[in-house]
Amino acid sequence: MSKGTYYITTPIYYPSANLHIGNTYTTVAADAIARFKKLTGYDTFFLTGTDEHGQKIQRLAEAKGVAPKEYVDEIVDGIKNLWKIMNIRYDKFIRTTDEYHVETVQRIFKKLYDKGDIYKGEYEGLYCTPCESFWTETQLVDGKCPDCGRPVEKTKEEAYFFKMSKYADKLIEYIEAHPEFIQPTTRKNEMINNFLKPGLQDLCISRTSFDWGVPVSFDEKHVIYVWIDALTNYITALGYDQENDQLYNKYWPANVHLVGKDILRFHTIYWPIMLMALDIPLPKQVFGHGWLLVDGGKMSKSKGNVVDPVTLVEHFGTDSVRYYLLHEIPFGQDGMYTSETFIKKTNSDLANDLGNLVNRTIAMINKYFEGVIQAPTVKETIDDDLIKVAVEAPIKVEAKMNDLKIPEALDEIFTLVRRSNKYIDETMPWVLAKDESKKERLGTVLYNLVESLRIVSVMISAFLPETSENINKQIKVELTSWDSIASFDGTKAGTKVIEKGEAIFPRIDVEKKLEELANLQEQQMKSTEDQKVPEMEPIKQEITIEDFDKIDLRVAKVLECEPVKKAKKLLKLKVDLGGEVRQVVSGIAKYYKPEEMVGKYIVLVANLKPVKLMGELSQGMILAASDDKDKLVAVNPGELVTGSRVK
Ligand code: ME8
Ligand code: MG
Repeated sequence: MSKGTYYITTPIYYPSANLHIGNTYTTVAADAIARFKKLTGYDTFFLTGTDEHGQKIQRLAEAKGVAPKEYVDEIVDGIKNLWKIMNIRYDKFIRTTDEYHVETVQRIFKKLYDKGDIYKGEYEGLYCTPCESFWTETQLVDGKCPDCGRPVEKTKEEAYFFKMSKYADKLIEYIEAHPEFIQPTTRKNEMINNFLKPGLQDLCISRTSFDWGVPVSFDEKHVIYVWIDALTNYITALGYDQENDQLYNKYWPANVHLVGKDILRFHTIYWPIMLMALDIPLPKQVFGHGWLLVDGGKMSKSKGNVVDPVTLVEHFGTDSVRYYLLHEIPFGQDGMYTSETFIKKTNSDLANDLGNLVNRTIAMINKYFEGVIQAPTVKETIDDDLIKVAVEAPIKVEAKMNDLKIPEALDEIFTLVRRSNKYIDETMPWVLAKDESKKERLGTVLYNLVESLRIVSVMISAFLPETSENINKQIKVELTSWDSIASFDGTKAGTKVIEKGEAIFPRIDVEKKLEELANLQEQQMKSTEDQKVPEMEPIKQEITIEDFDKIDLRVAKVLECEPVKKAKKLLKLKVDLGGEVRQVVSGIAKYYKPEEMVGKYIVLVANLKPVKLMGELSQGMILAASDDKDKLVAVNPGELVTGSRVK
């Protein structure tokens, strides 16, 4: 029986370039949640897709000399293929170029225009094309887009506007009354304090300066702002305002829109206001997860610093990548990708802990009982704790998943894996095997191990579906339902396990693979580098001498310097500031060996608010000149007296 419906969505991705493991993260997380909900008895609908209109795509297509649709078609094929490789089981893939979507967006626009929530005016302002975002002068940071830090463009055109302001108070009320609506909660405060409280301006929602978009049906020189077009996908995909609206009636409102924190604003301000204007219930939750960082920065298609998921899968298999993404990034926070932790985690958790449990269990059943699982006839108290951990695991996993705490849900599953390995050490089957009178006890121990593995396999099927199937094949699991793991007796005695199972995760030679990957990435970087047009970084917004005077720059001498554990980029330094010795953490490890720094004179930003980097306190920042790629030189003040001001 179904526990009810569950509708989950991912953002629809820009097919501006192939997706990277950052985008893959959102989709894999949504897939795991959807699979888990289905497993635990919900009637689930999982939507993903592509956001294909807008100026950015039009420009990319022009640069390549092809029509926009042709440009996106190729990338969309690649994205669909990626989801196949990642074992993503979506129920629907929406493309905003799909006819039903385009027509519904047009009807929605007309409806809001007729209602008076959309009106015609003139737009004069600033636009960030990579983000497809409008800004006002005061919203800019250092004269650039406050979201991505890139330059904005001036635009002036006749345009349609959405009366956001009309709904602002109602939205604030709604958010306050529904604390679960914006998650994590910290993001909720950010939305209210930074965006809603200062006052919402009416949103410009049409453009005339390019034409790759959904035309306004009654004024065709305008195309509808790509975010308005994109956000509606969550309802057009279900058939909203179309002939067949069965899915819409069944699944809306969505249980959760899973999005990166970069686009939370669109989903918790524009989207709810559009829905309010349309008199449609709001989604139950918008969850803004953190970013996957590489070398400290956000991985992004437009920055070109991406890790290609296809390459990773080719080298390590789908479930290693899924496991890494699902487990290593604290849900809701940023996480750092390094190939090293990826490989090490695969080895320790998957090859060692899980892989060995499967191997040892199967090998022993074959060795001692010709592969036949025995009935558990001789119980001992030493079994109790294992059984307790095993029957409690599904309850704990479900509780974690209800809060979308995926890494912690996986931890609960691996607690049972590790408990089972410990059970082997405690019961020592190889000792029991030497004593003919202990044969039935030995059979019971092995039964318990297989049953634990079955429970692990059922739970893990939402996260690592291929691995689960693989385990099922090897130990011949028949019962795979969630209900079947509520008690510790689902394995059928008399079943014959596989004769010789193969390792579910082969051990990886860390050094060798790391080198292989580094070479690959270098090639990849070079090829994206070749395609890029070099541009000078625009000069930042003008400041006054008073602004500059706020910065306290001092000459300091490096006394000690050492690497920071687990952070390849960072060095930890002790610097003498004249009257004071400080600890500074600096991202210069790629450019300087620790011993090269000792004795050097540097310039320190001395009144910068202290921060902790990788758990180390940093009291200041070392000035360095850099091209943000492969060159960096620490500013050398000569051997001045330490503590001297730099002005
Ligand atoms: O924003 N770490 O599309 P997009 C984690 N079309 N997640 C990341 C990431 C990273 N480094 N980089 C991207 C758009 N993401 C719009 C969405 S929805 C109506 C329209 C993920 O291709 C994250 O979920 O730029 C982010 O929100 C999404 O990719 C943005 O993908
Ligand atoms: Mg983006």
